[in-house]
Amino acid sequence: MDLSDAHGQCWLIEMRHSAYKLGINPEGRLLHYYWGPRLPFVTDYPLNAPAQYDDVHLQRRLNWEEYPPATGFHFTEPALKVTFADGTRDVRLRFDTVATSASTPSAGKRDQLVLTLRDEFYPLRVELHYRTYADHDILERWAVLANDSDQPLALESALSATWQLPALSEGAYRMTHLTGRWAAETQISQTAVPLGRTILESRRGLSSREANPFCMIDELRDGAGATETHGTVWATALAWSGNWKIACDAVADPARLTLSAGINDYDFAWQLRPGEHFTTPTCIGTFTTAGFGAASRNLHAYQRDIVLPRAFAHQPRPILYNSWEAVGFSVNDVNQRELAARAAQIGIELFVVDDGWFGLRTSDSAGLGDWYVNSEKFPNGLAPLIDEVHDLGMRFGLWVEPEMVNPNSDLYRAHPDWAYHYPTRPRLQERNQFVLNLARDDVADYVLQTLDHLLTQHAIDYIKWDFNRSLTELGWPVAPLAQQREATTRHIHAFYAIVETLRARHPSVLWEVCAGGGGRADLGSLARFDQCWTSDNTDPYDRLCIQEGYSLAYPARTMAAWVSPSPMSHDVNNGVVSMRFRFHSAMMGVLGIGDDLRTYTPQQIATASALIEEYKRIRPLVQDGAAYRLLSPRHNPHSAVQFVSPDGTSSVIFVFQHRQHYWQAPPVVYPQGLRPDLRYALTGPADEADQLPRSGAAHAQLGVHPQLNGHFGSSLLHLQAV
Ligand code: GLA
Repeated sequence: MDLSDAHGQCWLIEMRHSAYKLGINPEGRLLHYYWGPRLPFVTDYPLNAPAQYDDVHLQRRLNWEEYPPATGFHFTEPALKVTFADGTRDVRLRFDTVATSASTPSAGKRDQLVLTLRDEFYPLRVELHYRTYADHDILERWAVLANDSDQPLALESALSATWQLPALSEGAYRMTHLTGRWAAETQISQTAVPLGRTILESRRGLSSREANPFCMIDELRDGAGATETHGTVWATALAWSGNWKIACDAVADPARLTLSAGINDYDFAWQLRPGEHFTTPTCIGTFTTAGFGAASRNLHAYQRDIVLPRAFAHQPRPILYNSWEAVGFSVNDVNQRELAARAAQIGIELFVVDDGWFGLRTSDSAGLGDWYVNSEKFPNGLAPLIDEVHDLGMRFGLWVEPEMVNPNSDLYRAHPDWAYHYPTRPRLQERNQFVLNLARDDVADYVLQTLDHLLTQHAIDYIKWDFNRSLTELGWPVAPLAQQREATTRHIHAFYAIVETLRARHPSVLWEVCAGGGGRADLGSLARFDQCWTSDNTDPYDRLCIQEGYSLAYPARTMAAWVSPSPMSHDVNNGVVSMRFRFHSAMMGVLGIGDDLRTYTPQQIATASALIEEYKRIRPLVQDGAAYRLLSPRHNPHSAVQFVSPDGTSSVIFVFQHRQHYWQAPPVVYPQGLRPDLRYALTGPADEADQLPRSGAAHAQLGVHPQLNGHFGSSLLHLQAV
């Protein structure tokens, strides 16, 4: 960040290739001036907010207010909505003070700007925080709302940020976001932004599979927008795993667009007592003129370097085996040992026992809440299995779903009041379970102690933390009325605090977040979990689209992907796919295996072992390299993804042929991100001519010609600087 405060009235935040500017007007309002490419001279940037719009009655509208509260002539999404103790529901913020700071921790220099605003009348303080990192094109924003009065006040909406996009001289905006459902998460949706308001949100108590707290905006000119490699893209993402909202207000004249992002105001209220403050989650923005690919790489690099828990941020993610698809709820000491022996044989590094090991869990109708080992399935506890897994040279992991309870459980029988409920309403079940009210300190403490005990008693190296239903009946009857709508927000605060405490107490444990598939893929989870379960759909072809969508926002080193039985055990698509294709699809993320290894023939063992060996060789490229989406699987019989090492000297390209039509030739694939002046040798199934060493410039110009055979053919090509 280059912060400048030329006249004490405005602040310019310069990042690597982008810049952001804001300032105060003569009335002391904080206005947004600029968000776009970094310009050569400080004097290049606008000296004011864009001209303000006067309505028919010539009333001035503060369209460009940086953090617009609900007041006056603001009719787009307010960032802040408050009811003061006397009933006033109008906030007027004026600039008060500014503070800047810089620090240089190991991850590189970071700069922070804090602008403090105060209400004109009431002792309400609003601190707007802006933080940048020397090596990144990312602006982090969050707000702290403080009640300096001796009366309580009610926050009714407290968003993290309002992002203002420039008025377009021509053309219009387009939005790219992620939608989906169970087994079809992170589907890319792209649509011209209509005039009016578009809301992306979750009201389910989790960030959700149906929508993801992230979106990209690009400029649509003559019907064409940005591409993977070209064009202006703004993106925002929210670090929050609960109810969230991104409101997009598109105004016609003059054309402008705002994105307001934060905790959803749906069923939200927060009582701020005298002296208290509320901190919103962080919302980030990134800007590029180099297309969607560059925007994603900005997001990926930021998550690897800044967001992911530091302990393992740059450690290779282990290749895991997971019991779920092989044996479902029927895990036991015998079958897990058999699977563990096979897993070790093919080179697995982490052996995970999924659902079914605890309580009276033989199906999804019982046991959640009773986190003690099922003595029928594991007569001597888990210790002998864990020892054996460790002796086989693998780490040991376990599945839990700590925020849930089955009505058929000891926990629920003892504490039916611990689940969210309204005393006068029936409790809706989803997957036969209720959600524990973590807003209650006693419940949150119980969950923490239970997991702490589990981790203390067993030599566990990895936890998969699941969350398999949406929140309904958000009643919290024992809380004071004014606090009851704090439940979903407090739930997420408690969820985060529990994971953070457990990480501090058990620092060697690796954590994976999961929510009935990929329902908790968000920056809030990824600040606390090392990796994320992407989808219960492990069909290797469906996964290409799910993974492409995931890669828009999140990096490959967080994207868990399994090689599953073919046809799949869930029998979703009933397709028979070669082991190579299945591996190649999963090797573009954190590789895992879900197949029943007990059924593997010696030939399959050999093939799997060789592919796992290959993954180990390319893992640093996939997990630490830059990702390029070369060919999209969405509208294509082919797709391709490339990873390039941080120094640009080596690269791999995964190419897939979904179907073979009419003896059609495989596609020409144009590598990106290679160093133009270095010569690279290509290995792997490609045309002979491609195998002669060529410069990066030549490879990018001429393309490579992979060999692909039949339906579900795949190739993995390597490029190595010579
Ligand atoms: C969820 C997860 C699966 C598996 C099951 C176990 O559906 O997404 O991976 O762990 O729960 O019940």
